[in-house]
Amino acid sequence: MTATLDHAPIAPPAPYASRRTFAIISHPDAGKTTLTEKLLLAGGAIRAAGSVKARGERRRARSDWMDIEQSRGISVTSSVMTFERDGITFNLLDTPGHSDFSEDTYRTLSAVDAAIMVIDAAKGIESQTRKLFEVCRLRDIPIITFINKVDREGLDPLELLDEIATGLALDLAPMTWPIGLGTDFRGLIDIEGKRALLPDQRGGAQVSEIKFTDPAELATTARIEPHILKPTLEGLELAESALPRFDLQSFLEGHLSPVFFGSALKEFGTEQLLQALETFAPPPTTRPATARAVSAAENPVTGFVFKVQANMDPNHRDRVAFVRLCSGKFRRGMKVFHVRENRMVTIAAPIFFFAQERETADEALPGDIIGIPNHGMLRVGDTLTEGEPLRFEGIPNFAPEILRRVMLEDPMKAKQLTRALQDMAEEGVTQVFRPILGAQFIVGVVGPLQLEVLASRMEKEYNVPIRYEAAPYVTARWITGDKADVERFVESNRSSVAEDRDGAMVFMARNTWALDQARQDWPGLNFVDTRERG
Ligand code: G4P
Repeated sequence: MTATLDHAPIAPPAPYASRRTFAIISHPDAGKTTLTEKLLLAGGAIRAAGSVKARGERRRARSDWMDIEQSRGISVTSSVMTFERDGITFNLLDTPGHSDFSEDTYRTLSAVDAAIMVIDAAKGIESQTRKLFEVCRLRDIPIITFINKVDREGLDPLELLDEIATGLALDLAPMTWPIGLGTDFRGLIDIEGKRALLPDQRGGAQVSEIKFTDPAELATTARIEPHILKPTLEGLELAESALPRFDLQSFLEGHLSPVFFGSALKEFGTEQLLQALETFAPPPTTRPATARAVSAAENPVTGFVFKVQANMDPNHRDRVAFVRLCSGKFRRGMKVFHVRENRMVTIAAPIFFFAQERETADEALPGDIIGIPNHGMLRVGDTLTEGEPLRFEGIPNFAPEILRRVMLEDPMKAKQLTRALQDMAEEGVTQVFRPILGAQFIVGVVGPLQLEVLASRMEKEYNVPIRYEAAPYVTARWITGDKADVERFVESNRSSVAEDRDGAMVFMARNTWALDQARQDWPGLNFVDTRERG
């Protein structure tokens, strides 16, 4: 008997279809923390692990590198925050906000399926937004735009959208539209829903709504003053004629971003944002890997480490690897294949960040993040499977832009130094190079603040005070090519070659001229500025 499509049973949605794993990208001060808190609130229960509150407690409990966070008012750590609503589990991966931490941020963004881009209505696109956006674009991550602080004076909405669309070469489709800004702010127009969302008397979150067939009716129905309503409607009309309509496919491909206006502080417009995340943002799908792409629907468990955090608890030298699951159902006590080390390992005590209820606390689905405490076995970029030698792509090391020699204040502590630097390298705080001539380690970072964080953590967490000396190199490049050629290059350039922590050979160039020269002299070799981990 042949079954026709009409009679085929409709498959229930996969359990992971309820997962939304996302990050918030923004320039410092645009309102990411405030928005995060409001989203967590809207989701009700907040689990302690990685929640905003827990971060605060940890901050108080530790006086080490968090000092830098506090004094600079920036967020250095990245963690996982999970909340549930309407049967949807949201995994929010916190990205460090400072430009210095682009590497860490890059890796975190490799683990999400969507992003919210928060923009300050008075400032438009700022440098960090642009950088993070570019990282999202590399992977075509769908982005929802939230224009924040409409309760303050801001740029004209149409001009703002034009600036963002042109500046980022991104199609924008407004979903809500502000009625006035700053002291004139009267609420939002839900464009598709044909309704006005109005704050309570005090301008707070409580919303009343007024339906309309023509928004001009709001002059009487919502008693919005003509001098505020008129320019609002003119702007909206222009926006509707000049900008594209929302198109789900285009959004999922990363070409078009729906735009929501609001005030995170007043919790206004955030509900619409959350609904969009629920409705439009994709559940886990397919991920590129070598040698084949992995679908979230596959049964065997796969995942990759996107972050390692050492010393989360300063009293225990613990280290937690954050693993993003890509397929299968992970269970506590499972044995998985550690691809880089080519062996099976048992994950005895995973930390589940997502579960709200006890009965689900022992398993995790695609899109979820699990924390695996370990003693250095897992590194950023590692892939775990049930036996297949796969490797998920896109967790590179970046060529550092700043190189420094590490000098020990106490020469007796050489051994501790090696261990501590290894830990910090595994966590991604720094890259560590050991010149093949000479004893001193060279650390490489992408931004200067990382040097401060490193020195501070070395002293507070490992009791190894260090200082830096200038290194005679301006940049580092991984050397790839034929093995014999690489060896010959190393032999002839011993004073400018170092090993990274995986033993890969790195050319330490004294100036850009030396790099150009090496390229000319060794046409068979590549001097590359990123290296896939693992
Ligand atoms: P960030 O994580 O992106 O760096 O930004 P954060 O949420 O910390 O917000 C930065 C500042 O902007 C904070 O003010 C915050 O209260 C304010 N803010 C955030 N969202 C809104 C909004 O929708 N409207 C208005 N008017 N302000 C907003 P602060 O004075 O620096 O800190 P605080 O003392 O208020 O905490």
